[in-house]
Amino acid sequence: MTATAESPAADAVATMRVEIQILRMNPEGTHEREPGEEYWESFVVEALPTDRVLDALHKIKWDQDGSLAFRRSCAHGVCGSDAMRINARNRLACKTLLKDLNPARPIKIEPIKGLPVEKDLIVDMEPFFASYREIMPFLMTTGNAPERERLQSPEERHRFDDTTKCIMCAACTTSCPVFWTDGQYFGPQAIVGAHRFIFDSRDEGQWDRLEILNDKAGVWKCRTAFNCTEACPRGIEVTKAISEVKRALTTGEI
Ligand code: SF4
Ligand code: FES
Repeated sequence: MTATAESPAADAVATMRVEIQILRMNPEGTHEREPGEEYWESFVVEALPTDRVLDALHKIKWDQDGSLAFRRSCAHGVCGSDAMRINARNRLACKTLLKDLNPARPIKIEPIKGLPVEKDLIVDMEPFFASYREIMPFLMTTGNAPERERLQSPEERHRFDDTTKCIMCAACTTSCPVFWTDGQYFGPQAIVGAHRFIFDSRDEGQWDRLEILNDKAGVWKCRTAFNCTEACPRGIEVTKAISEVKRALTTGEI
């Protein structure tokens, strides 16, 4: 139906009041809080059902409390900056619609778990990136560079296609109970990053990476909880990738 002068709101989608509860922490403290104290703060925003959690966070930051801290950049599921724990599940705020969260109830937002919180929803990503660097995420070859591109068949490319989709959001690693408690485990993302090169027919560093992942901080820590696969906003079969790395270590075949 088209809106008319008599019924101007006929096509309008009604906004709704949504309560957003955010786990906050200010390392410097506030006039009411000790430095580093965690506390829940509730905000109410007027939003459309099709608004995303990121839109709601922007409304809070821009209209209600400019001190609220969270990361975001692309706002379209590409940069991986805004992984957070939304209603107890890791998701990207920019890819999560309010209507998919039962907005009649308060929506609870926390920082991702297992990494030190710097402020509100911002965590220190350095331990996560350090694990990624450990597995040497770059093409390793010996000898001279070829005069043309390194050729690869479609079948060979398909072998590691899934793990090329990673955007380094850390949703997988910070959903892993072993990562939360172990303190040493590289975590699922580092294994996904290694998988992308281990099964690349052009790479010659497979066994170096497999040796790293055979270590006590490596793949054998995985307890196949599948949290990582459920958390991945790119739909990567993370647990399957980890299983393929385990199989390569067990059989000696890539
Ligand atoms: S594997 Fe998925 S969840 Fe893990 S960092 Fe990459 S994109 Fe994020
Ligand atoms: S802001 Fe870039 S992935 Fe969400």
